[in-house]
Amino acid sequence: GDYSSLGDVAGKTVLVRSDLNVPLDGSDITDDGRIRASVPTIKALADAGARVVVTAHLGRPKGAPEDRYSLAPVAARLGELLGTDVAFATDTVGDSARATVDGLADGQVALLENVRFNPGETSKDEAERGAFADELASLADAFVSDGFGVVHRKQASVYDVAQRLPHAMGALVSTEIDVLRRLTVEPERPYVVVLGGSKVSDKLGVIDNLLDKADKLLIGGGMVFTFLKAQGHEVGKSLLEDDQLDVCRAYLRRAEESGVQILLPGDIVVDTSFPSGDVTPDPRVVPADQIPADALGLDIGPASGADFAAALSGARTVFWNGPMGVFEVPQFSDGTRAVAQALTEVTAAGGLSVVGGGDSAAAVRSLGFDDAAFGHISTGGGASLEYLEGKELPGITVLES
Ligand code: 3PG
Repeated sequence: GDYSSLGDVAGKTVLVRSDLNVPLDGSDITDDGRIRASVPTIKALADAGARVVVTAHLGRPKGAPEDRYSLAPVAARLGELLGTDVAFATDTVGDSARATVDGLADGQVALLENVRFNPGETSKDEAERGAFADELASLADAFVSDGFGVVHRKQASVYDVAQRLPHAMGALVSTEIDVLRRLTVEPERPYVVVLGGSKVSDKLGVIDNLLDKADKLLIGGGMVFTFLKAQGHEVGKSLLEDDQLDVCRAYLRRAEESGVQILLPGDIVVDTSFPSGDVTPDPRVVPADQIPADALGLDIGPASGADFAAALSGARTVFWNGPMGVFEVPQFSDGTRAVAQALTEVTAAGGLSVVGGGDSAAAVRSLGFDDAAFGHISTGGGASLEYLEGKELPGITVLES
């Protein structure tokens, strides 16, 4: 982060937008990656003598407080990671926020309650959003945008507030953008993209854009069944997006014409029901073109895991978004593990491996991989995808004006 445009921040109140949207089990944080990633910017500003006021969202509350979306557990964890107390305001721009901000000494840090408890934050009405942004801006002297995971959202704390205060890009946003640029501008070849996750419809823009850039595209996860069906295979009870079949056919044709290799799994791990608490998984491996009518695919098979690893071996640039299967269930986690392992080998051989997305990041950590084994683990899911789609990110554009 280069905060020089803000002048000397000592004694100033700096509002920092972070993405602290972490997975919770009750009030237990199950993956604190995003909190850890937000620490360097907050610490740098606090060390420089700023009074740091962090604003963030958790989940998708509908413009009103809901206990289960409180940032209170996040404030506690942020304090542990910073090694200092973090004052927590129980509202975002109300009496508690004002009192908390007023009570800060130079170098101290506060976190405001979930910004999405306020209807103005996500409002499509510019005036309503602007009025809320005015209130947020009135708490501080300057704004630092560091919530990379939300820069694709035109929301008050991401976009409008930057128009109201002297602003700068935070260290995390700056790093994320630098890495993503290396995936789009003259990537080192071979360049392999691995896509998974449940829906083709979430990945259309990325496939569209990367089909012209990557050398190979490996597809797994729930979205693979729409591709298999598009090739004329039956997929049983597997996840299927009927309305995307033509799109998948068009991608397969385009790849053939442009010489990009699309690799689909040759074998699939199936079961007869989706894994749930009271049913013991009974996995079977079948050829991808012979999925039984009563079965659903839950992971790529072992031969495909090896094929994908072979396709990744020797890659100089890799982008991966979306798990290969239902990795939360051990019996369906091998495909995701095989891909994660292959990415670590790309890193070890000096290539750039990028894991995109909150879910994929949580997946590799829950499978026991160390962050350092990858070139970069992006904190942004939707944001990194939209960047790779070539879309404009409002939270970035606004900083340039
Ligand atoms: C994310 O989890 O990708 C970011 O925190 C953005 O959250 P949102 O999709 O609810 O805007």
